[in-house]
Amino acid sequence: MKKRPFIIDCDTGTDDAIAIIAALCSPQVEVKAITSVNGNVNHGYTSRNNLDLVEYLGLDLPVAKGAVQPMMSGFVQVETTDLTHGRTGMGDLELPRASRSRFDSRIASQLIYDMAVELEGELELLVIGPMTNIAIALLQYPDLPGLVKHIWFMGGAARGGNVTPTAEFNIWADPEAAQVVIRSGIPMTMVGLDVTEKAIMVEEDARKLRIAGTREGEVVALLLEYMFRRRDAGGENALMHDALAFAAAVCPECLTFEENFVDVECRGQYTYGHTFVDRRKKTGKAPNVSVALGLDTTAFRKWLVDTVLNGVQRG
Ligand code: RIB
Ligand code: CA
Repeated sequence: MKKRPFIIDCDTGTDDAIAIIAALCSPQVEVKAITSVNGNVNHGYTSRNNLDLVEYLGLDLPVAKGAVQPMMSGFVQVETTDLTHGRTGMGDLELPRASRSRFDSRIASQLIYDMAVELEGELELLVIGPMTNIAIALLQYPDLPGLVKHIWFMGGAARGGNVTPTAEFNIWADPEAAQVVIRSGIPMTMVGLDVTEKAIMVEEDARKLRIAGTREGEVVALLLEYMFRRRDAGGENALMHDALAFAAAVCPECLTFEENFVDVECRGQYTYGHTFVDRRKKTGKAPNVSVALGLDTTAFRKWLVDTVLNGVQRG
């Protein structure tokens, strides 16, 4: 079966790293490149985390740097002691510093466009951080929408928020970029908090991965174990926000979707970064996004553990 080519754009991040490993292990896809953006932690860390992870897993694939700040919002992650991702973005996990690998010479937006052209419309994007790089690529290359098969993104919510009562972090960090992307006309699927807040892993999942005997299983288990300590300290639960966005692409049976008109609020004093999901069909506007609204958590957990356990063994 022909593998689906993906680029992962991320703000690695504990849950980003798990999503990356799931994609690298999946027999259905070929990860063509990983690009970084400012988000969970400063871009200096998100970019470095990607390079260290790829080298630790013994892989040689393009890792490119991206935007160090959003298009308009001014949000730049500073040194943080926040428990969610820890100072470096990888919790308390310290991977060996990459020594052989180098960043791709191209910036994220250029690499994304080059690969979209090379793949002649077959490229899919897994977007699991603020959407700055994708928006820049769209603004630089007006023909890009016709060259991207599908965007699978973690972001937004039909109801609620996490960084404010009405906004989810990835969208809130760069709403103008998210609006450019969502208005691009590219077929896309939104995996928001409505479902990611149900994507909770438990200790049994980590135990199974710990004994996998692979570096992929080891890293995911260590990150999950960090998340369990975070949860027990009053922080976020072991939520697989980003891995669920990848699951939507390769395990759609884990979720249910609804076609809706979606746009992004870029002006509201209290609603800046809100994803407007027109479930009541009040705008009369045609649906532009497939929105994940239901999740079979047990099926998702099984899919994630099995994917990493059965990961593509590399010679
Ligand atoms: O709101 C959750 C999202 O923000 C996830 O992608 C997490 O990694 C952070 O980027
Ligand atoms: Ca992320």
